[in-house]
Amino acid sequence: MKMLIKPVLFLTLAAFIATAAIAAEGGNPRKGKHLFKKTCKTCHSSGDEAGEFTPMSKIQSQWDRFFDKKDHDEKAWKDISEQDLKDIQQFLFDHAADSPQPQTCG
Ligand code: HEC
Repeated sequence: MKMLIKPVLFLTLAAFIATAAIAAEGGNPRKGKHLFKKTCKTCHSSGDEAGEFTPMSKIQSQWDRFFDKKDHDEKAWKDISEQDLKDIQQFLFDHAADSPQPQTCG
C-alpha cells in the first residue's frame, strides 16, 4: 500500500503541471490585454450589439474551449493573427472568473 502512494502523487503532480502549461503555451498576457482592447473591444464595448464581455465572463476551461474551437463569427476574426489570438486567449484565461486574479475590466 505504501509503495503506491509515491507514483500516485507523482502522476497527480505531473497532470497538474501539464494542465497549467496548456494555456501558457506561446501566449503573452500583457500583449493580450492590449490586443484585447484594440481588436476585440471595437465590437465588444458597452452598448454594442455584439455585447460587452470581460475576462470574468467565462471560466478558464470555457475560454480555452472557445479559442480552441474558434467559436466565433469567422469574418470578425479574419484580420487577427494566430499569435494575437493566443495572446488574447492567455490574457482572458489568466483573469477568468475562476482564476487567481479575476478581472472585470478589459
Ligand atoms: C467585427 C466585430 C467583432 C470583433 C472584432 C470581435 N467580435 Fe466577438 N462577437 C461579435 C459578434 C457580432 C458576436 C455575436 C455573434 C453571435 O451571437 O453569434 C460576438 C460574440 C462573441 C462572444 C460571445 C460568444 C459566446 O456565445 O460566448 C465572445 C466571447 C466574443 N465574441 C469574443 C471576442 C473576442 C475575444 C474578440 C477579440 C479576439 C472578439 N470577440 C472580436 C463581433 C466581434
